[in-house]
Amino acid sequence: MRDTFFVPSFGNRPKSLVGREDVINEFRLSLQSEPGSRERAMLLLGQRGYGKTVLLHEFADIAKDAGFIVASPTIVSKDMPLRIIEKLKAYGKEFLHNPTKKLTGGNISFLGFGAGVQLQNSDDDRKSFASQLSDICKIFNEKNKPVCILIDEVQGNNEELRQLIIAYQEMVGEGRNISIVFAGLPSAVSSVLNDHVLTFLNRALKKELPPLKTNEIAFYYKKVLTESGLSVDDDIVKKAAEETQGSPYLMQLIGHYLVLNYETGMNIGLKTLDKAVKAAKEDFKNDICKITLASLSERDIEFLTAMSSFGSECSMTDITGILNCTGAFAQTYKRRLIHAGVIDQPRRGMIRFAVPYLQSYLSEQNS
Ligand SMILES: Nc1ncnc2c1ncn2[C@@H]1O[C@H](COP(=O)(O)OP(=O)(O)O)[C@@H](O)[C@H]1O
Ligand SMILES: [Mg+2]
Repeated sequence: MRDTFFVPSFGNRPKSLVGREDVINEFRLSLQSEPGSRERAMLLLGQRGYGKTVLLHEFADIAKDAGFIVASPTIVSKDMPLRIIEKLKAYGKEFLHNPTKKLTGGNISFLGFGAGVQLQNSDDDRKSFASQLSDICKIFNEKNKPVCILIDEVQGNNEELRQLIIAYQEMVGEGRNISIVFAGLPSAVSSVLNDHVLTFLNRALKKELPPLKTNEIAFYYKKVLTESGLSVDDDIVKKAAEETQGSPYLMQLIGHYLVLNYETGMNIGLKTLDKAVKAAKEDFKNDICKITLASLSERDIEFLTAMSSFGSECSMTDITGILNCTGAFAQTYKRRLIHAGVIDQPRRGMIRFAVPYLQSYLSEQNS
């Protein structure tokens, strides 16, 4: 059967969002808060596949509905400043019309956008990013249009990110009506960041995306599958939801393979579920586990490999024993990995894997 319901790929918006009402409400409220208040700068943190990109797109729609001029989610990169300016100009072009500027012949576009008319814009081009952004926000604000900027994949010590944060702080100082949201992995806010960026992000309204609730996932599966004419029992739906371990991406993958493995006229049973989970896990290990490990140091991986030999959780004494290391050494790596969102601490002295199937992936790699 062809799957037209599930969207197991990064950044691909689902037909409907599961959970996340809290963070969506907080974002709505933040748009109503005073310009310059802490809520106007938000930081979304979540593991890979937890729906950061999808939420930024949702936020873009919400901000547009609230009358904001929105620069849709822009990934941190060399050309991020230019992209932000371009996006704001494109979305708010009706408020930018400046009849005093001269038209030039030849290739025709409006401020570089669309099939309009090329306006001489050389002054703008020579200005710094901060002043270009401030100028454009000023124009929008004067027309009673607040501005919202959404930044995805915040990571590392990035000069463009630093520039944007400086520009934002200056605009706040100038009383501009602007909102900004950053999204990144939990490790994005780590000491590798430039001090200034780090201080700013640490002061922002920080929202960590939790795993989705099993009952919400079960409800979603039941609804989507039955609405699409597939028959499935409640206990299978519950088992499928448990297998996702709360990961939205895994939820999409398992849903996708349930549909692909569905045989017309049959009930989705344990056999179909097992097949779907197996296929989904394979994809998940390749797309998430492998990439998670690639971003860690050799020592981090040694620590995780040691952990994996004990199952999904172990004690710190297990680790110092197997690695033959000091408690202080083990604590350092424990902190690093908790910070990176790869492990967590269920109880005092215990640690466990926070990324689904990472333990079995590591065991397979080392068997
Ligand atoms: N709340 C949600 N409900 C349903 N599907 C979701 C949800 N959040 C994310 N997804 C799905 O999970 C996958 C990963 O989402 P994405 O936003 O790319 O994650 P991230 O940016 O955190 O790595 C996509 O297939 C997306 O459709
Ligand atoms: Mg993403």
